[in-house]
Amino acid sequence: MTTSTHLAPVAWAEEHLRLLDQTRLPVETVYLEVTTIEQVWEAIRSLQVRGAPAIGMAAAYGLYLGVRSSSATSYDALWTDLTNQADYLATSRPTAINLFWALDRVKARVQAEAAQPIEAIKAAVLDEAIKIQQEDEQVCRRIGEFLLTQLHDGMGILTHCNPGALATAAYGTATAPLYLAKEMGWNLKVYADETRPVLQGSRLTAYELQKAGIDVTLICDNMAAMVMAQKKVQAVIVGTDRVARNGDVANKIGTYGVAVLAKAHNIPFYVAAPFSSIDFNTPTGAEIPIEERPAEEITHGLGKQVAPDGIKVYNPAFDITPADLITAIVTETGVYKPEEIQLLNK
Ligand code: MRU
Repeated sequence: MTTSTHLAPVAWAEEHLRLLDQTRLPVETVYLEVTTIEQVWEAIRSLQVRGAPAIGMAAAYGLYLGVRSSSATSYDALWTDLTNQADYLATSRPTAINLFWALDRVKARVQAEAAQPIEAIKAAVLDEAIKIQQEDEQVCRRIGEFLLTQLHDGMGILTHCNPGALATAAYGTATAPLYLAKEMGWNLKVYADETRPVLQGSRLTAYELQKAGIDVTLICDNMAAMVMAQKKVQAVIVGTDRVARNGDVANKIGTYGVAVLAKAHNIPFYVAAPFSSIDFNTPTGAEIPIEERPAEEITHGLGKQVAPDGIKVYNPAFDITPADLITAIVTETGVYKPEEIQLLNK
């Protein structure tokens, strides 16, 4: 893709992993040279790399960085090291299923290569990480093409958080149709929720869409109802960190509220979800683990103290949008009603 490759959040650079430090955007463009699995864990935990698909990609490369320095001389010893390292990376964040999906996929590749020499198995781990990243670009493009079938030129689109190029290999998930529409010469008018408390909407979505020349307007989260009432928005498109079997969806905190508002205003609400974000083992949204993040994101979130010392804080990073508020879940294979998700389990 040409539109946003310069924003590649995750890249393998010969001997190290290169991560675009998303905590510094939009003011500074800083790339991190990551050489250890511990650095990958920390980058995921601290949101330097974030967004479900990008977390999965980073974790796959992280597993390679870990296994690369393993001194194991037998397959069994290497497998023990690999599974310990995968378990460690799995503790970095709990909600995005893509993290666990990517780690499982690399482990499955290693099992398939069990008869190979140790160095060849290590090379296969890197190869699998690269494949995950390359496939993600195709997946996002397909999601974008399917979402475009639901849209038309001139629409207003509201999105929340950053389900964008910065969260994927390219295009983003929910933003993919916006990039494709731009390529086709459509004029979509995008409204980006700023996304409290850590502002992925204003720091990342507004930044990447503006950079790509897409018509984007930043609003505070509490303006979404007004914008809908004023008929500026004809569709909502969001990403997801995990889709449960019944079509309930976990996404950035505030998504549920946007879905309620969309329903109240009779506006279709779409969820862009790569297959790697569907968790057929989780029956409903109630079983999806919701990450709670540090209080400082709220009390000091805008760079200065904005709450009294010692205040009690509740800071869930994600919420659950129930299936009945969702018009369709769009994957790389098609557009599905939430109740159809369970039928996709092969
Ligand atoms: O806490 P974050 O920034 O990792 O949350 C990201 C989101 O909620 C995204 O909407 C989701 O991961 C989909 S990214 C294509």
